[in-house]
Amino acid sequence: QQAAPFQLVDQAMVSAIIRPRNPFDHKGDYGHAAIIAGSYGMMGAAVLCARACLRSGVGKLTCHIPTQGYTIMQVSAPEAMCRTGENHSPHELEKYDTIGVGPGLGTHVENFDLLNSVFEQNRRPMVIDADALNLIGQEKALLKQIPPGSIITPHPKEFERLFGKTANDYDRIQLALQKAAEYNIYIVLKGRYTFIASPDGRGYFNSSGNPGMATGGTGDVLTGIITGLLAQKYSSLHAALAGVFLHGRSGDLAAAYSSQPSLIASDLIEFLGQAYQSLT
Ligand code: APR
Ligand code: MG
Repeated sequence: QQAAPFQLVDQAMVSAIIRPRNPFDHKGDYGHAAIIAGSYGMMGAAVLCARACLRSGVGKLTCHIPTQGYTIMQVSAPEAMCRTGENHSPHELEKYDTIGVGPGLGTHVENFDLLNSVFEQNRRPMVIDADALNLIGQEKALLKQIPPGSIITPHPKEFERLFGKTANDYDRIQLALQKAAEYNIYIVLKGRYTFIASPDGRGYFNSSGNPGMATGGTGDVLTGIITGLLAQKYSSLHAALAGVFLHGRSGDLAAAYSSQPSLIASDLIEFLGQAYQSLT
């Protein structure tokens, strides 16, 4: 069996992906994203995801959150609009360019209906993370409902819940490539060297990031960034590659500014601007 030719995601690759802004651009040129996230006790995940999405450069953002989280979100992310209600009120999703779902969502049974409804209303590529993946792991039939070209962002445990155990890292990467092709999705397998499996069989290893990022909420930030890039009409592959690299670069800049132990997920959002700047 021939080894797959994996590419390294580095600054040169991502600099070529990110487009400069034009003088007459308006917010409509940068898309409208929706984030469906949060539950009682986990609104922080939704806030981190939303703020990262805003910093990624998205034109407009609407957060679909539970009613108890309304004030928290409006205060923490005044740039975002909010829709609240029963079951995160997942309706009228057609108006969004893309959707990110999962951070802090919780795995209550009613969220199966939520996911079904989202996948019914939206057939365009979207981002699926965290508890949305844990729900799919419990109800594997949902895998086939994921819109084609979507990006899923599991950490190793979430990957295992979705696709089962593997003996080692090499096997896990092979399984990711196989599943990406089977379901026509991009799989961002997060870790020290995040691996991006493309449904066409190609694989990519990210080169940025550091162990300071091993702290709660950094994954929620990644989901926000990739959702924001997708809304800006980057292809799924480009959104995944650039999102993962910029996220790691933000972590590297934040750790250089302060330190790895003190790094918290919010720092990644604060340093995203400098991460963009460092590309040029
Ligand atoms: N080196 C580089 N990057 C790292 C390292 C490291 N040593 N450790 C972690 N990271 C990066 C990963 O690549 C990933 O992008 O930090 C991010 C961690 O993401 P998650 O594992 O999803 O962590 P978190 O954001 O805390 O997840 C929040 O959602 O996934 C659920 O159960 C999870 O409760 C948790 C919540
Ligand atoms: Mg996570």
